[in-house]
Amino acid sequence: MDFLKLVKSRRSCRNYQSRPVEREIIERCLEAARMSPSACNSQPWYFIVVKEKALKDDLARKAFSGIHKMNAFAKDAPVLVVAVSDKSKYVAHLGGQARGTQYNLIDLGIACQQFILGAQAEGLGSCWLGWFNERAVKKVLKLKRTKKVNIIISLGYPKKELLLPVKRKPLTKVSEFR
Ligand SMILES: Cc1cc2nc3c(=O)[nH]c(=O)nc-3n(C[C@H](O)[C@H](O)[C@H](O)COP(=O)(O)O)c2cc1C
Repeated sequence: MDFLKLVKSRRSCRNYQSRPVEREIIERCLEAARMSPSACNSQPWYFIVVKEKALKDDLARKAFSGIHKMNAFAKDAPVLVVAVSDKSKYVAHLGGQARGTQYNLIDLGIACQQFILGAQAEGLGSCWLGWFNERAVKKVLKLKRTKKVNIIISLGYPKKELLLPVKRKPLTKVSEFR
């Protein structure tokens, strides 16, 4: 698919079919994420694909309840991809401190978006989820307390095509040529 067409066809998907997603398809999305650039090639990301139903249901129930209920729609997604950030390589970390920038989070964001565009190319729907009970997620997945879960991506076949008009600032507001 033409790249711009692919990018423009993506929307956050908040309605999923229960149909399972094939492992090979998810692996291709992970491959797209793996190929992402990162500061000093640190590759500070780790993806936990939760697709086993009992575990996924338990994770979703605990991650998206209480004050995180606005994301309860994600309970219906057959797959939740938990994105864990790692530290950048030392040089990138020091450079980031000098610059006041957390390169590892930029890197994780790139990898997540490559995953998401990969998913779009495969006909899957996805949604970035930044609002969830991180403590509960770490408990369910038995992650060390020192680990940082930054993002969850819900993934699945969309229930219907997402054709909502996309709201974006005009190009003239977000860019300029000099
Ligand atoms: C870092 C990040 C965190 C987000 N967190 C959530 C979230 O917790 N729940 C949700 O429904 N959407 C979340 N979104 C999706 C945005 O709301 C969505 O991308 C934005 O409104 C633009 O809509 P579109 O993705 O359909 O183009 C998040 C997006 C990003 C990039």
